[in-house]
Amino acid sequence: MNETLIELRNIYKIYQMGDTAVHALDGVSFSIPRGQFVAIVGQSGSGKSTAMNIIGCLDVPTSGTYLLGGVDVSTMRDDAQAEIRNKMLGFIFQQYNLLPKLTVQENVELSLLYAGVPAAERRERALAALNKVGLAAKAKNMPNQLSGGQQQRVSIARALAGDPSVILADEPTGALDSRTSREVLSFLQQLNREGNTIVLITHDNSIAVRAQRIIRLQDGRIIYDGPSDDPRAVVQPSEAGEGDTL
Ligand SMILES: Nc1ncnc2c1ncn2[C@@H]1O[C@H](COP(=O)(O)OP(=O)(O)OP(=O)(O)O)[C@@H](O)[C@H]1O
Ligand SMILES: [Mg+2]
Repeated sequence: MNETLIELRNIYKIYQMGDTAVHALDGVSFSIPRGQFVAIVGQSGSGKSTAMNIIGCLDVPTSGTYLLGGVDVSTMRDDAQAEIRNKMLGFIFQQYNLLPKLTVQENVELSLLYAGVPAAERRERALAALNKVGLAAKAKNMPNQLSGGQQQRVSIARALAGDPSVILADEPTGALDSRTSREVLSFLQQLNREGNTIVLITHDNSIAVRAQRIIRLQDGRIIYDGPSDDPRAVVQPSEAGEGDTL
């Protein structure tokens, strides 16, 4: 149960901009056991998306080691990374990223198509995932016939259909009103109770506290890593963070 799923060891991501080196991640280390719900927080520019891209095998670190399911993916080639990504990770984005010309069901099936799953199984798994998010009845609809919250649930179904080891969500409620945001979050919490490992990126403390654990970044470094109900989890030293609300 406490098997380590994600392990970052002394990760640096450095962008050389002319004469200056931007340390987007400046020696970051943490590990996440299977089944945990973690929020990565911090103000704009603190390194959240950079961390997400590395965890999601969309980018490689300048130095340091990243182990996903015990496998070193930090030095893998693109095609090998893509394969791991397809097999182990499910993504949820702020803008849903649904394809407008495909039905809801086809959108959910798409990730399985890339993974080489046969048609009949694709259909079955897509419908099961849509059922899980309460949208089986909308399978034949087009995305623009759904509300924002429903579209985000379709994107959650798409992430779930691949049966990923980790669900990565980058500002999943960024485009939703507060009531719909709460619904989507409750749903993520439910998925976590069912055993899913979730890494949620947000700048919003009121969202982050719904996770079990908060990792707070500032200038590419971890300034807090611990339970979300610890008062220090939501303190932002020297950063009256723009958009940071409690
Ligand atoms: N491709 C790039 N080239 C140069 N600098 C970059 C690049 N990507 C990110 N950075 C810099 O790295 C730092 C971290 O950026 P990152 O996108 O991870 O921040 P973030 O915490 O996701 O911010 P936001 O909340 O605004 O999305 C910033 O200073 C940013 O300007
Ligand atoms: Mg970002």
